[in-house]
Amino acid sequence: MRVKIQAVPANYEQLKSECLIVPVYTDKPLSKGVQLFDKKLKGFLKQVVSSGDFSAEAGQTMLLPLPAGSAASCQRVLLAGLGKSAEYDSNRYRQALAALFQCLLNVKVKSAHLVSDQLLPKGWSVVEGVKALAIAGQQHSYRYQTTLSEKKPPATLKSLTLLSNDRKNTAAAVKAGQAIGTGINTARELGNLPGNICTPRYLGRKAQSMGRKYDNLSVSVLGDKKLAALGMNSMLSVARGSKEPAQLISMHYKGAQSQSEPLVIVGKGITFDTGGISLKPGAEMDEMKFDMCGAASVFGVITALAEMKAPVHVVGVVAAAENMPGSQATKPGDIVTSMSGKTIEILNTDAEGRLVLCDALTYVERYKPRAVIDIATLTGAVIIALGHHKTGLFSNDDRLANSLFESGERSGNFVWRLPLGEAYSKQLKSNFADLANIGGRSAGSVTAASFLAEFAGKYPWAHLDIAGTAWHSGEKKGATGVPVALLVDYILGQ
Ligand code: BES
Ligand code: MN
Ligand code: ZN
Repeated sequence: MRVKIQAVPANYEQLKSECLIVPVYTDKPLSKGVQLFDKKLKGFLKQVVSSGDFSAEAGQTMLLPLPAGSAASCQRVLLAGLGKSAEYDSNRYRQALAALFQCLLNVKVKSAHLVSDQLLPKGWSVVEGVKALAIAGQQHSYRYQTTLSEKKPPATLKSLTLLSNDRKNTAAAVKAGQAIGTGINTARELGNLPGNICTPRYLGRKAQSMGRKYDNLSVSVLGDKKLAALGMNSMLSVARGSKEPAQLISMHYKGAQSQSEPLVIVGKGITFDTGGISLKPGAEMDEMKFDMCGAASVFGVITALAEMKAPVHVVGVVAAAENMPGSQATKPGDIVTSMSGKTIEILNTDAEGRLVLCDALTYVERYKPRAVIDIATLTGAVIIALGHHKTGLFSNDDRLANSLFESGERSGNFVWRLPLGEAYSKQLKSNFADLANIGGRSAGSVTAASFLAEFAGKYPWAHLDIAGTAWHSGEKKGATGVPVALLVDYILGQ
């Protein structure tokens, strides 16, 4: 369900609203327009703000019901804190948006009006600001429903009107933002589905149905036999312990007028990661249903591009498998020959993400890619390094790395670059094969990325380790949709 967002010029004289949302800084007077409106309230808003009852810290909100007949036909005012004006930036803006949507959805209003004066962070265009608004609107109306017997009531908010003169830019930005929001929610939904529903073949069927839905999208799904014929033995080694066959899914999106070489995005799609014979401990193992969030982000990006009919050329590839122990499962010490011809000694069957990705990285050479970006919940070690705040970025190309960093800052899907290099790749030496699939305890995320780098030498490549950012644990357990917004920003900026 989408919140309808539009712009109309501010006219406080005739404003009719269930809820007027007013941005407030801790250290700045209310905007001229709001002051005009406040006159009709006999300075009530000014009084609330200057009394200190509302502190206006970023992310704070206060709902003020208005007595009937007090100001035009405005039933409520929602004060939205932005913090200190000197500290106001895109993060604070997103924080304020999250808080105001939370509040609007709680009070169950159907429509609201948002004062746009003083709201945009420094250096941001109307388009960027409205896009972020539309994305936030979509994100906050998402409810996981699929496996609940009693459906949650849908979000009540149907329409949000921005008080702004820039109708044309607003309309275009809303379209783009809602497409991105739909992409993010697509990724979250796939991530949230349990492992017994969201299997590799489920992902294959999902891709096929997207192929039928969107004109510019062609889809292929390869199963066990085709993968064997291609020599993708490393990827197949991961699925051997499971009844579920591995699936290599390609979604080729070719928007209008795009003749250029494609950008390829590759997602790790382990629909459940038990660790295989190197079995994981039991605590929180359920969260390994999220081990396909890289794949989910590929679905999300393709959905966003197709929804907005973006004039770009992008191939999304998903390497899907279920990592299970079983009588046929790969054993520690087993050696496989990857599609590249390199042999791999599998010392730990829980380091399976790199085993599916390495073959996918070889497979995508056929697209003669302009660049390849893989997205994977690859290592627990990246959580030790960066926590849940930033995604790990690795790349063999500075320009690509810098662009992705910038897109991360703009979209709020923050990334931080970590190193690659010989010192680390040496840790992957094996006595029995060209390389081992693990590199010891130290620098676990770097050695994992170094393993992938061995298979990504033929194009500019970047790797996003989203193990710490793809989902929330605990009370808010659920997929985040990271880094769909980053990737779409990067793609549209090219
Ligand atoms: N999917 C996991 C990584 C992971 C762990 C993501 C915890 C999020 C939370 C991955 O397949 C894995 O098991 N990696 C191992 C690698 C190790 C065996 C070298 C890890 O991180 O422990
Ligand atoms: Mn694993
Ligand atoms: Zn895994």
